[in-house]
Amino acid sequence: MATTTQRPPLRPGRVSPRRSVPPHIRRPEYVDRPRAARWTGGEVKDAATVAAMRRACTLAADALQAVGRAVAPGVTTEELDAVGHDYLVERGAYPSTLGYPGHGSPAFPKSLCTSVNEVVCHGIPDDTVLLDGDIVNVDITAYLETDGIAVHGDTNATFLVGGEDAVSEDVRLLVERTREATLRGIRAAQPGRRLNVVGRVIEKYATRFGYGDVAAFTGHGIGEAFHSGIVVPHYDAAPEHDTVIEPGMTFTVEPMLTLGASEHRMWDDGWTAVTVDGSWTAQFEHTVLVTEHGPELLTVPSDGNPPGGLL
Ligand code: MF3
Ligand code: CO
Ligand code: CO
Repeated sequence: MATTTQRPPLRPGRVSPRRSVPPHIRRPEYVDRPRAARWTGGEVKDAATVAAMRRACTLAADALQAVGRAVAPGVTTEELDAVGHDYLVERGAYPSTLGYPGHGSPAFPKSLCTSVNEVVCHGIPDDTVLLDGDIVNVDITAYLETDGIAVHGDTNATFLVGGEDAVSEDVRLLVERTREATLRGIRAAQPGRRLNVVGRVIEKYATRFGYGDVAAFTGHGIGEAFHSGIVVPHYDAAPEHDTVIEPGMTFTVEPMLTLGASEHRMWDDGWTAVTVDGSWTAQFEHTVLVTEHGPELLTVPSDGNPPGGLL
């Protein structure tokens, strides 16, 4: 087992030029616009939209698995981006993060997010080299059209660089328990309950281990819009966020837990969120469909084995 000789704080690297997407692939409306359009449609999907979601989510999960296989010491995060980009584009999907508008900062420049060690989320792939004992979260979203309906499927997982033996025990446990917290939160999303049950379950589990639970970034409704109206907190937000969970809703659950602080600060790039105390942090994400029988993971790869396991 590795001892805790963890690398010094990360610094922003060099970001390579934007990758191209062939013109025949349908683009989300927000690409090269100052902001994404606000979603004004409903949150309950019809059968055709759910069918389209299944395809987009399976593809996103397959892409995540492909990128996960490429994670190794010596690989740069921009090499991971290239794997994810090519995987989606070769299968007719647009990588949803590519050109996603920022709030006052330039649009996100890459086809997936890579968040290493103390990066909470939204890390930009660059020439940073992964080292033995690092952890890296890969967050990838596919925008795919099926029978005229184009929708997003969003998923992420945290990978151990160099395998289980390379990563210190406290970090390995954090990753494992973040995976478990995500699945517990999802399992709580039963129709008829209120949406804030998800975060309550996650917070309770995280607190057991003294982990930080980052409140600033939430899960979200997803479908034809990347981020639709519903907000899914990962902490106990009651009495707020009391929307009743209904069959046909699709949203993400994507908690970020840390070995220390629950607060983040932003790098000057306007995207990269790091823990204020430099503590390491993990995340998992699924796009979930609520059925009358309960929640269903949509972001399951074709082989049935998502990186974080099944419900
Ligand atoms: N995939 C992220 C999520 O889970 C969003 C990334 S937006 C980006 O919501 F612009 F940072 F890429
Ligand atoms: Co998401
Ligand atoms: Co995501």
